Amino acid sequence: MKLLFVLCLQFVLETCCTGKEGHPNFVLIMVDDLGIGDLGCYGNTTLRTPNIDRLAQEGVKLTQHIAAAPLCTPSRAAFMTGRYPIRSGMAGYGRSGVYIVAAASGGLPTEEITFAKLAKQNGYSTALIGKWHLGLNCESNNDYCHHPLNHGFNYFYGITMTNLRDCQPDHGTVFSKAYGHIPFPSIAVALITVLVFHSCGIIIVPRKVVLYAALLIALGLVLFAIFVVTFPYLNCFLMKNHQIVQQPFSSEDLTTRMTHEAIEFLQRNREQPFLLVFTFLQVHTALFASQRFKGKSKHGLYGDAVEEVDWSVGQIMNTLDHLNLNERTLVYFTSDQGAHLEEISSINGDIHGGWNGIYKGGKATNWEGGIRVPGIVRWTGVLPAGTHNDQPTSNMDIFPTVVNLAGLPVPSDRIIDGHNLMPLLQGNILQSEHEFLFHYCNAYLNAVMLHPRQSDSIWKVFFFTPNFYPENSNSCLHTHVCLCTKGYITHHDPPLLFDLSKDPSEEIPLTPETEPNFHLIMAVVREAVANHTKTLSDVPNQLSLSNAIWKPWLQPCCSSLSELCVCDKDNSDANL
Ligand SMILES: *[C@@H]1O[C@H](CO)[C@@H](O)[C@H](O)[C@H]1NC(C)=O
Ligand SMILES: *[C@@H]1O[C@H](CO)[C@@H](O)[C@H](O)[C@H]1NC(C)=O
Repeated sequence: MKLLFVLCLQFVLETCCTGKEGHPNFVLIMVDDLGIGDLGCYGNTTLRTPNIDRLAQEGVKLTQHIAAAPLCTPSRAAFMTGRYPIRSGMAGYGRSGVYIVAAASGGLPTEEITFAKLAKQNGYSTALIGKWHLGLNCESNNDYCHHPLNHGFNYFYGITMTNLRDCQPDHGTVFSKAYGHIPFPSIAVALITVLVFHSCGIIIVPRKVVLYAALLIALGLVLFAIFVVTFPYLNCFLMKNHQIVQQPFSSEDLTTRMTHEAIEFLQRNREQPFLLVFTFLQVHTALFASQRFKGKSKHGLYGDAVEEVDWSVGQIMNTLDHLNLNERTLVYFTSDQGAHLEEISSINGDIHGGWNGIYKGGKATNWEGGIRVPGIVRWTGVLPAGTHNDQPTSNMDIFPTVVNLAGLPVPSDRIIDGHNLMPLLQGNILQSEHEFLFHYCNAYLNAVMLHPRQSDSIWKVFFFTPNFYPENSNSCLHTHVCLCTKGYITHHDPPLLFDLSKDPSEEIPLTPETEPNFHLIMAVVREAVANHTKTLSDVPNQLSLSNAIWKPWLQPCCSSLSELCVCDKDNSDANL
């Protein structure tokens, strides 16, 4: 009897606790463009985020959690792979650093290894619910080479793009905007004039030129008719795995549907190891919130959207509670970059971007406001609850952390820039393994953080800074996001130096007079940059013009053309 009891107990202990001791589940939550100053647990007193605050109370709050890039596409590439985006070709040299059309050929290369791919190899059930923004197809409209299912996810429910304005009524589309930039009417007038003059015999141009001019006009008209007037929703489709289930997707109840999808995934997989990546479309513009949240916050539609995000996080946490999975599940919460400060509604002046607290600048810059993001890690019983950690950490650290905990070695055939967070979070080491962090603005090395071993100082060296507009403001209102290219930045030689440990708002650059180690710091940083640069290899640029432009043959469409790519066959639960 006693023996039976012992055996039973042993059995219970083994089965109940293998998760805890062994490989935990993962729920990784990413919000879009959420500012670090928007959350109660990071000091906000007027936006209500009780669920996210609870996550922080039950876990470790990172106060210096740094996104590897200040824009969606590269930041997410780094998050998924644990590598600087420049290594995978996910850093652009041009003006735009992200994908703005779904039918572009660039995306996260198949050779890259995501944490999901490795977790799946080790028996995890994996899902991505929400925004991807890392490409879709390569050569045809159904090869899905960059699709989440090709990057280690068993299940996908969401959008391959971002929450563009295209999908909201009265906002115009990326295509119509692109048309706006091409002086189409002037070109047409010029060409027609040439044709008319030629036909009247006033000028004589070679037949070839006449032919090309006529063709150009016709092509322009056809493109305009088809893609600006007729098909406004080319970028706005919701997918379930490979199938488009809604085009255009209706954003208003999408967070609810995504939340239900997440809950169902957790319930389906309660008995087996799982990895859920849940990435909100909110709080990117054009803003939306479901009926139940509209008009409820003190901060307009932006605040409503944040509070809906918080509700959704709460639903996921409640599900983990009910399924009794808290001790077997690591939950991570973050934002892909800082708040988008230029988002001020042109209609009524409402502020549609978030709040970065005491930090300078915002999305698209490497000032702390662009890259210092919320970072909360909860694993009940394993990580100390209600603590915070001020060491520099990166969203690239999630890759090695997940891979290690899932029971696999980190790939050795490539450089992984992230570090396993567990020793730091559990207090086994006191200093972050990030002695350096390289802050890229698209493909350009913008700044370097240096946290010397055995030192409290956290130096940050800027080689260039964005030109704010208006000049003494905190953002780039003239271009809507700050840019990293010539004409929009100021180079600094010697570079600007700050000590984030004393001046987190990056207000007063240090000089050789105010910082005796100035030259030494510069020398170390220069050497680190040289070392880092040597580790970069030439890879195809996934954001080159040819990989970022719209290619008609890659365009997915959920219906026959006569139905204008409009459909709605989503059966996900939209009730609260
Ligand atoms: C809270 O967030 C809102 C919305 O982003 C912002 O306007 C406000 O200034 C923040 N409040 C505090 C105290 O940080
Ligand atoms: C650069 O690399 C060399 C050789 O590996 C190493 O000795 C040196 O410490 C590195 N410098 C910095 C600043 O990391």
